[in-house]
Amino acid sequence: MRGLRFGYIATTLLSQVDASVGGKNGVNFQGYKNIVGVFNQPEFVICDLSLLTTLPDREISCGFAEIVKHGAIADAEMFAYLEENAARAFSLDLSVIEKLVYESVRIKAVVVNRDELEKGERRKLNFGHTFGHAIEKTAGISHGEAVSVGMVIASAVSEANGPLKSVDTERLQRLLQDLSLPTRIEVNVDLVWDALQKDKKREGDTIHFVLLEQIGSAVVRRLTIEDVRDGMKYLKSPTDENPSQAHVSTGAKRSLQSKAPALFGVFGDPISHSLSPVMHNRAFVFSGYNGVYFPFRVNAIAKAISAMKTLNMRGASVTLPHKVRVMAHLDRMDAMAEKIGAVNTILNQDGILTGYNSDARGAVSALTERLSLKNQRVAIVGAGGAARAVGYGIVENKGNVMVVNRTAKSGEQLAADLCGDFSLLSEIQKIDCDVLINTTPVGMFPDVDATPVPGTFFNEHMTVMDIIYTPLQTRLLKEATAAGCDTINGLPMFVYQGAFQFELWTGMQAPVEVMREAVSEVLAFHET
Ligand code: ATR
Repeated sequence: MRGLRFGYIATTLLSQVDASVGGKNGVNFQGYKNIVGVFNQPEFVICDLSLLTTLPDREISCGFAEIVKHGAIADAEMFAYLEENAARAFSLDLSVIEKLVYESVRIKAVVVNRDELEKGERRKLNFGHTFGHAIEKTAGISHGEAVSVGMVIASAVSEANGPLKSVDTERLQRLLQDLSLPTRIEVNVDLVWDALQKDKKREGDTIHFVLLEQIGSAVVRRLTIEDVRDGMKYLKSPTDENPSQAHVSTGAKRSLQSKAPALFGVFGDPISHSLSPVMHNRAFVFSGYNGVYFPFRVNAIAKAISAMKTLNMRGASVTLPHKVRVMAHLDRMDAMAEKIGAVNTILNQDGILTGYNSDARGAVSALTERLSLKNQRVAIVGAGGAARAVGYGIVENKGNVMVVNRTAKSGEQLAADLCGDFSLLSEIQKIDCDVLINTTPVGMFPDVDATPVPGTFFNEHMTVMDIIYTPLQTRLLKEATAAGCDTINGLPMFVYQGAFQFELWTGMQAPVEVMREAVSEVLAFHET
């Protein structure tokens, strides 16, 4: 009952130089960051440098953010060494990286030993993290990248409130850029400010802020929240001029120079209308992920799957008419896709293709943004592939499903599979529900005057979702809005299913807002 003995094997550069040192560790669990954790020391830490060669470039960059931080706050010599050897460091030259990992661990250990309970000295390790955490939460970028931007802002705040000279800020900025880290980012400034005000290190109207005095030396000062607010001007809001440049982090540039991009695509027929290419390509660029996504008009799905292996495509989306047929050609199936009986996402891991279905997750995320599904009575209109995916997502989240379909046979079958009830669409007026979701194509462009459910059915207690996104406001949604319902159009589901794909393929957090914006732009263009 005295806890478990444990040790760490640090497999990323970030964990080797930072996370594994200091005795404070946590894992994310059920959406909460660091909710399960320890505040005591491991018996050993193994930093095997050869593991670093297995990491994507972007992950390496993120580790460098903390190395730069250590140099900036405590070791001018190490900082200068890194400036001189940035290229060798980035290519993981063994002698350089060994020195940097060693020095970083030493610096952090010295700081932590001086202050095991995080009162004074240890706070210096938060350099760049006040803004960094707020940016990380808001922009959905990785910790290292957010800290990189946060350090540049913190240097600017240091110039305004302390002795730091602008040449030192410039040195810091240049070094981060040389290591393919972003130094400015396009974010929603109001959201960052909100997140920053909730910083747990805030005390009343002041905040403990780490200021650089010069490269190699930092101090912790109490600054007023207004002093800190001044740093916000170094963030770029999406409405600023020339925002497109800010989308491109330096990480993307480096990756493009050094390696061929990972290939992705969508297989379907027709395909020209697909919004997936614009959504994924925008997400890749924004995240600095070296990937590219194409639309492929495919009529023979077996050949496309074989080509996927030949071309070593990392992932693919699958759309009509191949979502069911494709399953026979894959090596493995994810449990949810198996249950749904359709695949819209493929992941290629060393030639092994696994099929997934992201629609259920997409639908659930779109709905749970607004309400909890638990014990809700959810009427699903339609009984095709989309209805099946949405239905399983709802059942998994403890909602009660009722399938409403024009044809009894397919509707009853789906209702039975989902352990729910069935009603004929012609008798919909007899049913009662909290949520209604249209999964049929009725109301989709060009038949925008059609609707599967009469407007008289709705009342102000209902939430109504349509998975159609062309047009965004279907007749169904317009009539539901007129009746006082809360409505959800097809955009969130599409974006969230894409976000799931992005995370599966890249292992990175999806920039959901950027993806939403990309799709909205195209839809707005088509609707005008
Ligand atoms: P998807 O895979 O996109 O769900 P699907 O498998 O063709 O497409 O399913 C479409 C669903 O919409 C079906 O349940 C279909 O009803 P049937 O089961 O009776 O075929 C339903 N649907 C299509 N057109 C419809 C219409 N005009 N009115 C009502 N329901 C319709």
